[in-house]
Parts: sequence; C-alpha cells; structure tokens
Amino acid sequence: MTTFSITPVTPTIGAEFGNIDLRDTLSDETMADLERAFLQWKVLFFRDQDIEIEDQKRLGSWFGELDIHPTTPKDRKNPEALRIAENEEVRAHNNLWHSDVCFRLEPPLGSILRGIEIPPTGGDTLWANMEAAYAGLNDDIKERIDGAYAVNAWPVTWIDLAMRKEGVTDREAFRRDNPDPEHPVVRTHPQTGNKSLYVNTAFTRRIVGMDQAESDELLALLFRQAAIPEYQVRLRWQKNTIAFWDNRCTQHYAVADFFPQRRVMERITICGDRPA
Ligand code: SIN
Repeated sequence: MTTFSITPVTPTIGAEFGNIDLRDTLSDETMADLERAFLQWKVLFFRDQDIEIEDQKRLGSWFGELDIHPTTPKDRKNPEALRIAENEEVRAHNNLWHSDVCFRLEPPLGSILRGIEIPPTGGDTLWANMEAAYAGLNDDIKERIDGAYAVNAWPVTWIDLAMRKEGVTDREAFRRDNPDPEHPVVRTHPQTGNKSLYVNTAFTRRIVGMDQAESDELLALLFRQAAIPEYQVRLRWQKNTIAFWDNRCTQHYAVADFFPQRRVMERITICGDRPA
C-alpha cells in the first residue's frame, strides 16, 4: 500500500514527496502513484535522499530508457549520469530558460537531478509550467502558433564536443545525421493530452515559414511566458534533495548567483518521444 505524502508547493506546479526512501525498490503500485503525481504536478521534490547513482538510475528506468547526453564522453563509468558543476563564465553565458536537449529529434521525457554539493546561499532552480504558459496566451497568439513548427538548434560548442566524442571529423556529415529539428510550437503531452508551449530561449531559433523579423518578435513574446512568476515554482536545494521534472511540459532555469561558492549536481535523463 502506498504510504507516501504529497504536499503541493504551488497551486499548479511542484509537489514535495514525503515518507519515501528512494534507496528502496518501490512496488509497481507505488511507482504508478508516483507517475500520476508526476503527471499532475510536473516537478516532484524529494528531500534527504542519501542515494547512490544506481538508485537514481533505477527511479528513472521505471519511466523509460536512460539517455546519454550528447557531450558526455563515452568511456565514463555511468555515462547516463551528467555532472553539473559549471564555472561562473560558462554559467553566465548559458543561463537561459530551457527544456533539456530539445535540439534532438526525440527530446527527453524528464530529468532527475540530485543536489550533491549545495552552496549555503543561492543556486536555486526555477521551473515554469508551460501548459499554464500556453493557456495564458491570448486567442490571437494561440491562433498564430497552433500548428506552427520551430527550429531548435544544437549549441555550436556541443556540436564540437559531440563530434569529438563520436570521433567524427566531417562536420557536414555530423550535421546531416544530427540536424536542427523542427518541433511543434505547441506540443500535446503524449500521456495527458494537454497542450503546452514548446519554445525556449536557449535552443529555439526561428518559427518555420516566417521571416526572421516576424519570428523574432513572436518568439520574444512566447519566451517571456516562462518568466512569469505565476507559472513558476522555485526550489531551494539542500544536499540530497532530488528534483524530478517532466521535460515535455516544463522549462527550467538554474539561478547563477552563488559564485564563488560551489554547486555540484548530478542528472539522470530519461529518453522521450518525438514531440507532436
Ligand atoms: C539543468 O539544466 O538540467 C540543470 C538545472 C540545475 O542545475 O539546477
């Protein structure tokens, strides 16, 4: 019987799980309840989980195959684990609202992030409910974007890293195999059927079929939706806090205010399907 507790953090996004130990192999019944909560709350938080990477992988594997980030070196033990410990310079230039790895044809279903070393202050993460962000658009804008597609681009530095990892030297061949995909601007969640806004500041470059100026103007308006506080939840991390988010209907932003303190996280990412 499921005994965990669920405490919503905001009315529409984010819920904290209590009375659960992620070191345990949870029953299918518990996992099914957890999945229902995941679909409802979009981001789940678990506190005081002194778990190993194997536990994090087991939790993710229940939802699907685990992804390996395109830039993670192949020979690493546990290549599914992405270490996030950026320096100030990197963070300052990459700190944008995003949905993980949406420059792939099949972006991830979700990610599970664990706090390993947390600064005494700062380094919070925010998530935006992109279903609410879509619902909050006026009807004229909804009409313009329903049925539209947008190009989601590989970051140039990641192309270099991914090519090195694959031992590929022919850039054109790599790009033929890994093009910048066109994803729907409004995505329908494959499990709930809910519509969400699926463009983000970090990776979305233009709306297909519009000239660049029109596309830039519309995208600027759409990008602002993620930054509206009413659609957000904000997590203050502690060591061994876990956040598990639905990458299909949320975006996130890690606040880069903690330098020169250190912040070390580890992420497991679950493969997803092609946005429709
Ligand atoms: C991420 O973008 O997946 C990392 C978020 C974070 O470091 O809080």
